[in-house]
Amino acid sequence: MSFTLWFTGLSGAGKTTLSSLVYRELCLRGVRVELLDGDAVRRNISNRLTFSREDRNLNVRRLGYIAHLLNRNGVAAVVAAIAPYAESRAANRALLAPYIEAFCNCSLETTEARDPKGLYARARRGEIQHFTGVSDPYETPEAPELDLPTGTESVRACVDRVLEHLAGRGLLPATRVLAPGEFERRESDRAARLAELGYLASGPVAR
Ligand SMILES: Nc1ncnc2c1ncn2[C@@H]1O[C@H](COP(=O)(O)OP(=O)(O)OP(=O)(O)O)[C@@H](O)[C@H]1O
Ligand SMILES: [Mg+2]
Repeated sequence: MSFTLWFTGLSGAGKTTLSSLVYRELCLRGVRVELLDGDAVRRNISNRLTFSREDRNLNVRRLGYIAHLLNRNGVAAVVAAIAPYAESRAANRALLAPYIEAFCNCSLETTEARDPKGLYARARRGEIQHFTGVSDPYETPEAPELDLPTGTESVRACVDRVLEHLAGRGLLPATRVLAPGEFERRESDRAARLAELGYLASGPVAR
């Protein structure tokens, strides 16, 4: 039942948005699953790493290794991280099975217009170096299991594509097991506890 579902794509392409909704759907159905968002992992595990090619690859491999540890214990991993380089994505594909790559396929024009964190504007002003899509490459996945048109279709339509894929592979139980409100209650209790202890679970990483 365990698997790794990796959302890759440019900043603003929709990785956090889609991964958190898919994570919710899995939790509602009683799947043992963890959500690994690049921002949270950078903050709490890889906080000393830079955005050089070497460090980005290392960060992506760390995420893959954590996913591996989860998977071997029967826990699915949903990852949201840019993972711009083919080499570290390939390493994770070799390590993880099943590894499901979900490419958030959105043009730079659209992600830059969205700029939900104001990072593109800062990158264009030269305040951020090595910014993917602006001053650092994004190597487009060649054969992703899912090619999600996140620039042209709705969030709901993209989530449905992912759920259909998982269902087709027998990775999505059909019935809901959590009572209404239970998921939100659990997640907000956990977020409050983490925040209290200094593990901020969400929000952009300072760059
Ligand atoms: N089909 C879609 N799928 C995902 N997001 C969409 C879609 N359509 C519009 N959006 C919007 O695009 C934005 C995507 O932002 P999000 O934070 O999810 O990006 P991200 O890929 O996690 O970026 P980052 O790498 O900076 O963390 C959100 O505001 C979301 O509402
Ligand atoms: Mg994100």
